Amino acid sequence: MQKIIDKLYNERSLSRDEYLALIKGFSPENAEKLAELARQRAKESYQNKIFIRGLIEISNICKNDCLYCGIRRSNKNADRYRLTKEEILECCDEGYPLGFRTFVMQGGEDSYFNDERVCDIVSNIKRIYPDVAVTLSLGERSYESYKALKEAGADRYLLRHETATCEHYARLHPSELTLGNRIRCLNDLKSLGYQVGCGFMVESPYQTEENLAADLKFIEEFSPEMCGIGPFIPHIDTPFRDEKAGSAELTCYLLSIIRIMKPNILLPATTALGSIAEDGRLKGILSGANVVMPNLSPYSVRKKYSLYNNKLHTGAESAEALDELKRQVASIGYEVVTDKGNYKEI
Ligand code: 5AD
Repeated sequence: MQKIIDKLYNERSLSRDEYLALIKGFSPENAEKLAELARQRAKESYQNKIFIRGLIEISNICKNDCLYCGIRRSNKNADRYRLTKEEILECCDEGYPLGFRTFVMQGGEDSYFNDERVCDIVSNIKRIYPDVAVTLSLGERSYESYKALKEAGADRYLLRHETATCEHYARLHPSELTLGNRIRCLNDLKSLGYQVGCGFMVESPYQTEENLAADLKFIEEFSPEMCGIGPFIPHIDTPFRDEKAGSAELTCYLLSIIRIMKPNILLPATTALGSIAEDGRLKGILSGANVVMPNLSPYSVRKKYSLYNNKLHTGAESAEALDELKRQVASIGYEVVTDKGNYKEI
């Protein structure tokens, strides 16, 4: 085990079997050992800085039917909404004075948000706030679409790969969604010059340790600028309602491995991690995460963007309570900064 940890630290590359051994070696002692190395690594690149991103959930209307997701098409209990351009710009108006210099527009795959509408919103945000970064998280689109959005000013794109194993992908998604197309999207985004984020859920249904090892190898090779990982959490109105939630501990362990492998990656302590465990976000930071994404959506829609049950949207999770987040982060020796928080090349 120690040999593999040393190799990960020094060479930042392991074989799939070595990643598997690392995953199988998960224990509280090894988790603390890796977390310490991960904190050291994060500090080398980003000191004790924690970047914040204002998350604007623009629509919970989705044409897809992913089995795990609360806003899947066939969930008739979801109370659907989409924000107007004006509402989205108001979220930015609220976030900017609070110190947000990245706005993340995330939503289901809602055909209302075609290229023309998204380009218009993105270019307006960039015009009004030339010093912010705009991140999009709007699912799978064509190369031409990603190109148009980039030209309108989008800087980054988040699209979790969900799982790097085809068979596992097929158990989480309906047959019209394929890992192949997901990877095509990620490659398109990269070739267009976006800072790209991939990621996956921890302990999603049917996930094996081998699947997780494949996810780590995929991240090593794809080398994204950002990576979102959080525990799977069941949603009552999905086929996975009776499945078990993923653990915060394994999520943190994987965060540490990713940080050690990619010293300068932008790694969020996700909302799902904050939702599953007391002080989950702080535990994420102490495991090597360096980003948090407070919710900037209008209060009235927050409950509706329900990807899983008991999703946090108040307290330090919400943008208005940034002072509380700052205090919490400061209490463990880190500092929330007002910064675009771009990826640092090494
Ligand atoms: N539990 C945890 N994460 C989820 N996501 C969707 N549904 C769930 C769930 N039930 C994640 C997916 C998606 C991101 C926006 O949210 O990984 O890419």
